[in-house]
Amino acid sequence: MKSGWRFSTTRLIVVGLVLVVSAGIAAWWWSRPRTPEALYRARCAACHALPDLSRFAAADMAKIVATMRASNGADAVIDEEEAQLIVRYLEQVMAQ
Ligand code: HEC
Repeated sequence: MKSGWRFSTTRLIVVGLVLVVSAGIAAWWWSRPRTPEALYRARCAACHALPDLSRFAAADMAKIVATMRASNGADAVIDEEEAQLIVRYLEQVMAQ
């Protein structure tokens, strides 16, 4: 009887933990920026207000993003894949 009680308590704890962890992963997943624009708005505002890029040209975008990552520490917030998405997004927006 006693071991039966202990078994179900353990099971309850395991099921509870699985649910909590799953909910956490789901929340993290859904809160991720899902478009290149959302990525730009989230990542490039991590250290300063979204920059005014109007004085730059589309051709400068790759260099600006690379400089942020190489010299200003943005590589801690923006990985290589994200950097490429952001550059492509900014180049498109500025070419319009
Ligand atoms: C880890 C922090 C950080 C992140 C993330 C970051 N920056 Fe910056 N950024 C800085 C710092 C620090 C400066 C100021 C450096 C300076 O004055 O040269 C700056 C300055 C700038 C400037 C002004 C440069 C100038 O010549 O006036 C632009 C434009 C810029 N960032 C664009 C971006 C873009 C686009 C992103 C996203 C890809 C980004 N930043 C993400 C830290 C960051």
